[in-house]
Amino acid sequence: MNDGKRVVLTGFMGVGKSSVGRHLAQILKSERMDLDFFIEKNEKRKIADIIDADGEAAYRVIESKNLYHLLEKSTAQVISLGGGTWTIDANRELIKSKGLTSIWLESTFEHCWYNIKFSHKERPLARDKAKAIKLFEDRKKIYCLADWHFVIKPEYSSYDIAQLIYDEYFC
Ligand code: S3P
Repeated sequence: MNDGKRVVLTGFMGVGKSSVGRHLAQILKSERMDLDFFIEKNEKRKIADIIDADGEAAYRVIESKNLYHLLEKSTAQVISLGGGTWTIDANRELIKSKGLTSIWLESTFEHCWYNIKFSHKERPLARDKAKAIKLFEDRKKIYCLADWHFVIKPEYSSYDIAQLIYDEYFC
């Protein structure tokens, strides 16, 4: 069943927002967008290069602008955010104003860190483990503001997670 509900996936770097989003869109037979990918395509720069060259604050401005454009032009049912997108008040307000439901994918830091280490994606804000742990702890209270909270168990694959979200939210 697909009644057209739209969701954004949030959560810490490495939690699996992109892969869960891909599977969920496949299950829904619908379109999905990945904000990080959208930003790199529009800006014609890698996110890591933007953060390294211009700083995180400048990146957040670019990210918010791209989120706005994405939500203006795309009707995708599934949108995977970057790990910091949801931490910006204006981004959360915008997402709510568009009627999208936010889903926090929550996992342990070690699970996220394992994925960060083994992925090819360059993540400037997760180069140092101690700083990444601090960011992880600091952000929990903001991720918590999402409409839905999905706790990832170690045995779940990203397909399992997408299927469970589908069963719980879309059926
Ligand atoms: C960020 C997460 C990254 C990317 C950027 C900043 C963050 O996306 O948007 O490096 O602040 O957590 P992923 O969560 O997909 O790694």
